[in-house]
Amino acid sequence: MTKVLVATEKPFAPVAVEGIKKEIEAAGFELALLEKYTEKAQLLDAVKDVDALIIRSDKVTAEVLDAAKNLKIVVRAGAGYDNVDLEAATAHNVVVMNTPGQNSNAVAELVFGMLVYAVRNFYNGKAGTELKGKKLGILAFGQVGRNVARIAAGFGMDIYAYDAFCPADAIEAAGVHAVASQAELFKTCDIVSLHIPATAETKQSINYDLCSTLKKGAIIINTARKEVIDEAGLIKLMEEREDLKYITDIMPDANDEFASKFEGRYFSTPKKMGAQTAEANINAGIAAAKQIVGFIKEGITKFQVNK
Ligand SMILES: NC(=O)c1ccc[n+]([C@@H]2O[C@H](COP(=O)([O-])OP(=O)(O)OC[C@H]3O[C@@H](n4cnc5c(N)ncnc54)[C@H](O)[C@@H]3O)[C@@H](O)[C@H]2O)c1
Repeated sequence: MTKVLVATEKPFAPVAVEGIKKEIEAAGFELALLEKYTEKAQLLDAVKDVDALIIRSDKVTAEVLDAAKNLKIVVRAGAGYDNVDLEAATAHNVVVMNTPGQNSNAVAELVFGMLVYAVRNFYNGKAGTELKGKKLGILAFGQVGRNVARIAAGFGMDIYAYDAFCPADAIEAAGVHAVASQAELFKTCDIVSLHIPATAETKQSINYDLCSTLKKGAIIINTARKEVIDEAGLIKLMEEREDLKYITDIMPDANDEFASKFEGRYFSTPKKMGAQTAEANINAGIAAAKQIVGFIKEGITKFQVNK
């Protein structure tokens, strides 16, 4: 019988596990659970006889793939899949998928929760500013970026976006001004919201030179990945420019330095909160289960990321 393992150091909500179980069992497959594991050895042991694997931020390395002799598919319940060694998976003939879009509304809503908090001076009792009429720059017009644009329209913001791969007319069709480059976005906007993936090209790309072109009083909000920030460069710039704020859902390596140097201009969630909603949890888990059933029964590879 086809065996599907859910391996989650940080488990899904129980209602999401129930939903996954229903999908898997309805397909006639068996579901196994490895939750809150603390040792790599537990994962290596659990994958030994499974055909399919559902993970969250869990690391799927060459060692895990070596141990999983029957493995055919790994689905990362979520958008980012930098926790899976894609090259090793391809070499092991294992299909890797993500579940794009399932948590993007959750992340986009958090952007605005954090932005209101920032423009109202972290609720310190002093007068802040409003989002209405401000220029919002969305860096990358993917699933999250599009949801940010939709919500920003409700706030009455003037919305700009740049995406290296999404054509300008698709951005304009969503009622958003398309700009020609990342540099132009940073120069133009009062608030820049990051939604790029962490790739060889984007890592450390939000650096001193780029950010030094930001307008007076600008805010950078990061709900993407910490790796895209050149932390040393941003710290240097924020030391020079007391008007800039950095708000993030992904705690930087230099969190202590940011927090001690930039009180009132810096905020990080203690743990990544973007996708932490009941709805996102359930949606992503069930989508992962459905994609596994679709792949094993019908060979559907729509969301494969290691083609
Ligand atoms: N905070 C959280 O909990 C949380 C949750 C989900 C996703 N994320 C992160 O948010 C980011 C966006 O996720 P998504 O679901 O919108 O992904 P997505 O794949 O839908 O969109 C990413 C977009 O980035 C664009 N892009 C890629 N390289 C680029 C570059 N060099 N310059 C400009 N644009 C580029 C792509 O064309 C695409 O439109 C990812 O980094 C993801 O890991 C964080």
